[in-house]
Amino acid sequence: MLSVQDNERITRTGPGTPMGEVFRRFWVPALLSSELADADAPPLRFLLLGERLIAFRDSDGRIGLLEEQCPHRHASLYWGRNEDAGLRCVYHGWKFGVDGTCLDMPAEPAGSRMKDGVRAVAYETHEAGGIIWAYLGPKDKIPPFPHFEWTLLPADHSMATKRLQVCNYLQNLEGELDTAHANFLHREFGENPVMPPPEVARKRFLIAETDFGMLSIGRSDLSDEVAYWRITPFHLPSFTLIPSAGETPYVFTGAVPLDDTHMWGFTVTWSPDRPLDEKELAAIRLDGVHGGVGPHVVVDPVTFRTEANLGNDYLIDRDLQRTGSFTGIPGTRVQDMAVQEDQDGPICLRHKEHLGTTDRGIVGARRLLLRLAEQLEQGIEPPQPQHADSYRIHSVAAEVPPAVDPIELWHSLQPVPAGTTTIEPAR
Ligand code: FES
Ligand SMILES: [Fe+2]
Repeated sequence: MLSVQDNERITRTGPGTPMGEVFRRFWVPALLSSELADADAPPLRFLLLGERLIAFRDSDGRIGLLEEQCPHRHASLYWGRNEDAGLRCVYHGWKFGVDGTCLDMPAEPAGSRMKDGVRAVAYETHEAGGIIWAYLGPKDKIPPFPHFEWTLLPADHSMATKRLQVCNYLQNLEGELDTAHANFLHREFGENPVMPPPEVARKRFLIAETDFGMLSIGRSDLSDEVAYWRITPFHLPSFTLIPSAGETPYVFTGAVPLDDTHMWGFTVTWSPDRPLDEKELAAIRLDGVHGGVGPHVVVDPVTFRTEANLGNDYLIDRDLQRTGSFTGIPGTRVQDMAVQEDQDGPICLRHKEHLGTTDRGIVGARRLLLRLAEQLEQGIEPPQPQHADSYRIHSVAAEVPPAVDPIELWHSLQPVPAGTTTIEPAR
């Protein structure tokens, strides 16, 4: 459990909050590139880390990310005209470039220098892997862009989607680090018994700190000869890789706060060495599907609200729940949302919970995040954002002989050397 105070600290990410400062040291996904595809297209307005923002792509294809309110008298730049390499406020015509520079003040006297002294608040952006990323922190602390593998590959090797999820970011992050739930929540049983057999369900758990964050590790002893390891990397500040085996494409999950009770859920499926095939793309596009398939969900193309949601009981099918699926809810992501969006509501009351041995990864992640917040309050910058190359990693789902060391296993399956790893001894 967490104290009421620590739960406040870890869940609040608005400007000036301790955890908000931690998030403001990292690049975070903000938009899909497809939302802002064309030069001079209408601007977008959205929330990120509790800040009201406007994004636009100017005539030269550059992306601007500005505070929503015009610096003049705070009209919304959402109504603005995106024209001739800048965004012009419709109230009195002030015009801003992508870097926040004021380019024009048409109502001021000719020759006025006033525009030289006014800037819109503008944030840094970086476009990679089908996503527009944002950095909302201090300008003198901009870290290198992390080397997520799919951002280094040809565009047809990956696809990104986005959803609005109605809960605090931590409920989604904790769900991803909670490797024990997969055997229950996501169980499809067909003819087999409903509960997973004990050798699959009763795992052992350990964690290890890394240069990018942490590993959450689970082991099931399938027999005397075979141990099954699932290793979930947690990239700071709130990203995870779902373990997938061998040929399966990898899946990135990003939980990015809009505010403290809503998050953008970014999901990227990628294959390191080939384009995604038609079957994989169909499971991402979801044409004609209801709810979701795997980690991708059907959303409204403008609001990104999910088709399956609390208002329609996530399309639960009680007959299917009896006969073929642990939940009766379509798709693993929708199943996750059903349990994550209401843990006391959008912010879980963690002082009332009862954590078990399966919650090791969750405890480790909380401790790491709270430690970074505390250190930053003391003026100690987090080291992880500087380790851009350590973000090029894979998850692991592997059956191996029992004697194999999980950390050696993880390192042996990474595409490039994965830096330092400090394991905590199993309890
Ligand atoms: S409020 Fe934007 S130009 Fe006046
Ligand atoms: Fe899940």
